[in-house]
Amino acid sequence: MTTQNQAAQFCDNPCVPDPSQQQSRFAVFRRSFRKGFPSAVRGEGVHIWDSEGNKYLDLAGSAAVNLIGHGIPEISAAMAEQAAKLEFVHTSQFTTPVAEHYAQDLLAFAGNHFEGGAVYFTCGGSESIETALKLARQYQVEIGQPRRYQILSRQQSYHGSTLGALSVSGNKRRREIYLPMVREFPHIGMPYCYRCAFDCTDGCRNCGQQYAAELEEAIETANGEASAFIFEPVSGATLGAVVPPLGYLQAIAEICRRHGLLLIADEVMTGMGRTGRNFAVEHWDVKPDILVTAKGLSSGYAPLGAVLASKKVVDAFTTGSGAFLHGFTYNAHPISLAAGQAVLRRLQSEKLVDAADSGRQGTPASNFKQALEGLRAEKSVGDVRGIGLLWAVEFVADKATKRPFPPDQSFSARAGAAALKRGLLVYPMQGSVDGTSGDHLLLAPPAIITAEQIRWSIEQLSASIREAEA
Ligand SMILES: Cc1ncc(COP(=O)(O)O)c(C=O)c1O
Repeated sequence: MTTQNQAAQFCDNPCVPDPSQQQSRFAVFRRSFRKGFPSAVRGEGVHIWDSEGNKYLDLAGSAAVNLIGHGIPEISAAMAEQAAKLEFVHTSQFTTPVAEHYAQDLLAFAGNHFEGGAVYFTCGGSESIETALKLARQYQVEIGQPRRYQILSRQQSYHGSTLGALSVSGNKRRREIYLPMVREFPHIGMPYCYRCAFDCTDGCRNCGQQYAAELEEAIETANGEASAFIFEPVSGATLGAVVPPLGYLQAIAEICRRHGLLLIADEVMTGMGRTGRNFAVEHWDVKPDILVTAKGLSSGYAPLGAVLASKKVVDAFTTGSGAFLHGFTYNAHPISLAAGQAVLRRLQSEKLVDAADSGRQGTPASNFKQALEGLRAEKSVGDVRGIGLLWAVEFVADKATKRPFPPDQSFSARAGAAALKRGLLVYPMQGSVDGTSGDHLLLAPPAIITAEQIRWSIEQLSASIREAEA
């Protein structure tokens, strides 16, 4: 039998139990049977309202999903227009104008490197990751490398909740009970400068190369069976917005190229402007063979994910077997694509990628970065890190030693619950240190957040952190 403690451990992110909910039964199979969930009824701008009239400022963009803001009428109008014309066709029988136009728009958005490539549309991040893993495997078969099937990845990463995606993920909490069902491939370490394994003092500039060298070793151990390497350019929820040191991703890309592995960038969270570039790999001028994106792709207006395959990958199929042995019923759903296309237009017309650039003076992202720095004054705040509009605040019980809080204190969950009470939505996570201990909040607001809303949010966040410390 699963004990309450075990159940809490398997909770997607740590939750503070709500005793009033314990006896209740609901028709919806919720993420937690122990936690209370307000019922959301409306969204506008950076705010969400629940059925009791409470207003929340969405400082997490739900889960780093919403970049353009909630409740924008032009997005729902585009979806309604598409639904009225054609709601659905199956991709085994038809393509659609919206799919063809939007795929071209996305390839252009991804830059010259994706010229001549193609886009595979799905309903979200995990489906897109599954697609990318299979695409990499079949690519190797198509080019006459059938021994290559392993997908190498990194510890403390997250690539989704389906079994294939879990096999390449490193998030211990989300994998643990499913491991007997998962095909395991090698996971290498990743630079996490606040807790660098090499105790460096140069921002991981040199040890970034040592971390990259782990990939070369893993490829050699795989003995000709490695097909691809998958990575989050900036780590997402699991480690909390850890930005790689200069030179690290370039070294990773070079190793992949030299050993014939495809480079898969998982930009489910970091893509579509979230870090102040169209895609985060652009910060380091890295050119992946396959790029996966979701979340901000539709900003949550519809379930949508996309796998961008570069020309090299597509050519292997057009000159090879001519067919990708993969598919979902709802690939390229016209209504989701209409939403995605309208979101992309909005992103461009409102210059929201620039707004999300924390290196550009006066943008919402640079205001946010500056305001977050103030949190370092709090007793339990050990680190503030991130880029663009993807940030994390890591908590420690002791700043000098960086000792984390004991996991059973659920520090981040308590800080998150205190913020919720004040009308502020954040994304609490646990496990950043070793998969079990280590608390942080992930913060990823919409790019339309104003200076006043940032000021108010940080004030509430400080008060929430102090409440959790008490
Ligand atoms: C980097 C990354 N990859 C994949 C996924 C899985 O996406 P989804 O939850 O849409 O299936 C996530 C979700 O948080 C993610 O952050």
